[in-house]
Amino acid sequence: MLNKIKKQFNKKTNFEQWPGIIKGYKKWLPINKNTPIITLQEGATPLIELESINQIIGRNVKVYAKYDGLNPTGSFKDRGMTMAISKAKEEGCKAVICASTGNTSASAAAYAKKGGMKSFVLIPDGYVAQGKLAQALVYGAEVLAIKGNFDTALEIVQRLANEFPITLVNSVNPYRLEGQKTAAFEIIDSLGEAPDYLCIPMGNAGNISAYWMGFNEYLTEGISKKLPNMVGVQATGSAPLVFGKIIKHPETIATAIRIGNPVNKEKANIVKKESKGTFLDVTDEEIIKAYQLLGKQEGIFCEPASAASVAGLLKIKEKISNNATIVCVLTGNGLKDPDCAIDNNEAIFKQGIEPNFEEIAKSMGF
Ligand code: F0G
Repeated sequence: MLNKIKKQFNKKTNFEQWPGIIKGYKKWLPINKNTPIITLQEGATPLIELESINQIIGRNVKVYAKYDGLNPTGSFKDRGMTMAISKAKEEGCKAVICASTGNTSASAAAYAKKGGMKSFVLIPDGYVAQGKLAQALVYGAEVLAIKGNFDTALEIVQRLANEFPITLVNSVNPYRLEGQKTAAFEIIDSLGEAPDYLCIPMGNAGNISAYWMGFNEYLTEGISKKLPNMVGVQATGSAPLVFGKIIKHPETIATAIRIGNPVNKEKANIVKKESKGTFLDVTDEEIIKAYQLLGKQEGIFCEPASAASVAGLLKIKEKISNNATIVCVLTGNGLKDPDCAIDNNEAIFKQGIEPNFEEIAKSMGF
């Protein structure tokens, strides 16, 4: 159990807090005594039971959300970035670069600064949620918004990192996936066993590959006894892995996964095959429905890309076996994308009310 690990750690060091994924899962990560640990104490995120979804599916299934939007910069990227930046620091690197739909850039900027490095981020102009852009600016990245999409930005940063002394921290950097696999460890540490299904949004398909690595490592060590079916979910307008072809002009409200040519596609296809998994697409309407359901029924505010995991589960609910345990990965925090929240809710929001006790009580129905 995660709590047991935390307790053991605390005993040894008298350290009262979760130390972040590198110290927390040291033995499983490619670090050595010379690796400087650059951390914002990421990881140890909640695994929350989603009772409303249990009820929708029925048949005694148990659905949980791995709420990775509660990481220090509000997304799962922090798990990978603590590793990528720590290794970059170990190798003496002075600057890092990434292409991003927003979350990678926020995380890279934060961890680079924590490690005393410069960061450059290339983003698709006009297609990055406000909160993410705000983060990259506040953490002091050099932000280059290009007139092109994520796929073009990634091609450019790969070339820049090849030709100049700058480290690439996109998920082609192997340390990213090493860090991200710790989310799978945490799920097993909490549940005592791997779930039967893991539903996860796919963009560049790094995270699904990282989870698969984590589940397999725990199985090999005998900590768990089974592997989940991996359910990878993409937005219909941006679903190259579902349709098996490059999408030249990807479109979706879930800008985090607006990617038409995923760099980890071979890895993702192996995960699908090995796990006897499923890749499926969900429409923007289905994403927003799941997004609203999580907010209204569960008190969980995630970003639209994250809600795709729940939308995907609801789409295949008839195929889920009885008594199954399912984990949906909520990859990013809802605060990242306030525009989406304000444009897509059914809340009661009365404006222009006089600051008058009687008026307010009356408008409340008293
Ligand atoms: N969910 C969120 C919130 C993301 O930001 C991303 C990817 C994904 C899911 C998909 O993860 O790429 O590993 O399959 N965001 C990247 C970025 C592309 O630049 O922030 P993946």
